[in-house]
Amino acid sequence: MTYIVFLLFFYLTISCSPSSSRAQNANLNLPLKAVNLGNWLVTEGWMKPSRFGGIINKDLLDGTQVQFLSTKLNKYLCSENGGGTVIVANRDSASGWETFRLWRVNESYFNFRVFNKQFVGLGSQGVEAVSNTATDSETFQIVRNDGDLNRVRIRAPNGLFLQAQSEMLVTADYAGSSWDDNDPSVFKMTILPNSLRGEFQITNGYGPDKAPQVMQDHWNSYITEEDFNFMSANGLTSVRIPVGWWIAQDPTPPRPFVGGSLQALDRAFTWAEKYGMKVIVDLHAPKASQNGNDHSGTRDGYPEWGDSNIDETVAVIEFLAARYAGRPNLAAIELMNEPDARIVTLDALTKYYKDGYDAVRKHTNAYVILSNRLGPANSKELISFASGLDRVVIDVHYYNLFSDMFSNMNVKQNIDFINNQRSSDLSTLTLANGPLVFVGEWTGEFARNDASKEDYQRFAQAQLDVYGRATFGWAYWAYKCKQDHWSLRWMIDNNIIKL
Ligand SMILES: *[C@@H]1O[C@H](CO)[C@@H](O)[C@H](O)[C@H]1NC(C)=O
Repeated sequence: MTYIVFLLFFYLTISCSPSSSRAQNANLNLPLKAVNLGNWLVTEGWMKPSRFGGIINKDLLDGTQVQFLSTKLNKYLCSENGGGTVIVANRDSASGWETFRLWRVNESYFNFRVFNKQFVGLGSQGVEAVSNTATDSETFQIVRNDGDLNRVRIRAPNGLFLQAQSEMLVTADYAGSSWDDNDPSVFKMTILPNSLRGEFQITNGYGPDKAPQVMQDHWNSYITEEDFNFMSANGLTSVRIPVGWWIAQDPTPPRPFVGGSLQALDRAFTWAEKYGMKVIVDLHAPKASQNGNDHSGTRDGYPEWGDSNIDETVAVIEFLAARYAGRPNLAAIELMNEPDARIVTLDALTKYYKDGYDAVRKHTNAYVILSNRLGPANSKELISFASGLDRVVIDVHYYNLFSDMFSNMNVKQNIDFINNQRSSDLSTLTLANGPLVFVGEWTGEFARNDASKEDYQRFAQAQLDVYGRATFGWAYWAYKCKQDHWSLRWMIDNNIIKL
């Protein structure tokens, strides 16, 4: 009896204390050679556009930016002052104040969010953009012309159509139904390019009846056990898995998100273990969006993460830490992917990183990864903060893309940039007794359409050589992608990359 009580006590002691998880790091072979399982548990439409194929009105997803030209007046609808007052129809050309971001209610009903974030609705001044919330009074139907889908009429919540009576007078009281150019209710709708296609867009696009099955099929087929077999056989030692905040509320996350991604993540841990691989769980999409990108889970591209989101984001991290602390192959938890320096202040971020670090440490001694901020931020800004913590890693993302600088360089200059600039950037970040460094995203694609297969081989090899010196390791973006050079699987199958 005493013996059993002792055993029970012993068991409880080790299972409740993070020190029991130290083993997680004991057999971690650094530096890691990892790949990102991008577009698996956090959707990024550009990586597999066909997944959106079954959505009705799939060009009108959440966050899509539209402009409306009155065919009668030949002027654009405009939210005067960018919001806070009436809608007018007097602009010759369209930019910010003439652009409306869609919040999709269903396949043909929408809210229109204006430049200053109010919603268009019917109010005391008539058609106005005053309300900060979207209710029935802010819900409009876009009625498309069968022969020309971008010729539209807009049905207001009172059942009548918007009409541009004059440049200064837009009302919601038109009952006609013609499609003539001189009909004041007819508008030419321009859909701006580069619409968002993230998790919010796909789940809300399919809607609550279809989204659960579509997402389940995606999670089951996009990454399978065979992929872990392939990764392991080809020299990869770990995976970085982007997840969204809604995973913590599985199996019933708030709409439009759907449950099931948590079971997929569980499976990944099991498969990784079977093939001797480690897992980095990366909170790619915190609530409120830290960068406005598709992969942040945003609804409309307005990034709004800040102080008021710290506690709820820490709670997601604690959920993940608690769930996976017992997995021997948990390598690390990354607290947040790519915060944008124009949105997320260093103060808010370091407060969050400290709280998130503490939440992880309640459960496990796995590494904690801190992503550097994107945009106007010093790449060394986290070092002194991080140096006070144990087993932390700074994550940097290196792409020779998204800037004219790289397309203006020839192939050799792009490769030289890796060997010189990236190499010296990495050295600068690598300090004795400082945090480890992780190149958590890089890819074999670069800003040259004219590169040959040999160029791609040399560009990839240069990166492997330089990023191989990162003390924590690197992770290729991504494992699978419709764009060949972004797919490590394709790059390996086609002998461009050999690990
Ligand atoms: C779409 O939403 C509108 C507004 O809430 C509603 O009146 C309409 O019945 C809905 N349509 C469908 C197909 O669900």
